[in-house]
Amino acid sequence: MTDETVQPGDFAPPAPGTPPPPAATGTAVAAAGAIDATKRYGRGESEVIALDNVSVTFERSKFTAIMGPSGSGKSTLMHCLAGLDSLTSGSVFIGNTYLAKLNDKELTELRRKAVGFIFQAFNLIPTLTAEENIKLPLMLGGDSGDKAWFQEVVDTVGLGTRLKHRPSELSGGQQQRVAVARALNARPDIIFADEPTGNLDSRSGAEILDFMRRAVREYGQTIVMVTHDPGAASYADRVVFLADGRIRDEMLEPTAERVLDRIKQLGD
Ligand SMILES: Nc1ncnc2c1ncn2[C@@H]1O[C@H](COP(=O)(O)OP(=O)(O)OP(=O)(O)O)[C@@H](O)[C@H]1O
Ligand SMILES: [Mg+2]
Repeated sequence: MTDETVQPGDFAPPAPGTPPPPAATGTAVAAAGAIDATKRYGRGESEVIALDNVSVTFERSKFTAIMGPSGSGKSTLMHCLAGLDSLTSGSVFIGNTYLAKLNDKELTELRRKAVGFIFQAFNLIPTLTAEENIKLPLMLGGDSGDKAWFQEVVDTVGLGTRLKHRPSELSGGQQQRVAVARALNARPDIIFADEPTGNLDSRSGAEILDFMRRAVREYGQTIVMVTHDPGAASYADRVVFLADGRIRDEMLEPTAERVLDRIKQLGD
């Protein structure tokens, strides 16, 4: 818990008549969130309710893990929060902007400036080298970035000798590290990471998680991360548990053991 207070303007409503996004539970400033978010895929008998009236906020400068069984809606929630997919009903916001209020151009701009995404599949550009992939989000904005930070990021993810290689010349784990470095290098307002360490051995995974946590604690980065691994979740400040498209529970200052216990309870 922090004792930060909400600053005037933090939740300035994006349009007259729209209530401002709420603060994170028991805390202060929200970096992003969803309000009564429902996402349905398909129709009739094939209908799937991927998100069922989800309301959740993610506090700024905090590291939040999202956990839940396969198919519980974790990726759908992250995609909708990042403006990569749209809701059937309800709303999502980044900072003080409701995404539904934006036209395509404004949404693209907000995503480029404010949001970093590490996908379950890494989404690297095959014709660019690792280094070019990492720098791409900043280059698109005409920014060459901070050299020292870039070096710290690539040293931490351990890509030093592979920077001139293309994704097809990298292992799955190395590609994943490029995707993590790309998100961290741009220092966006918020990073959504969908199993960023899922394909890594435990040591490389731990190094990246530790770096993500440092980016949050030392540089105020906001990170929301999906993981299946209680050990990975223990790096976060808070864990949100999803099941069947609904928020089932949450935990502050998680440890791997407590997370595992909670998962077992929720499975009953
Ligand atoms: N494009 C789509 N069309 C139809 N159904 C979809 C689509 N995308 C996701 N779903 C369904 O929505 C539900 C939630 O999927 P989602 O990908 O969010 O799960 P998840 O929690 O990320 O699972 P995993 O841990 O396996 O990645 C699942 O039942 C899935 O089959
Ligand atoms: Mg998923």
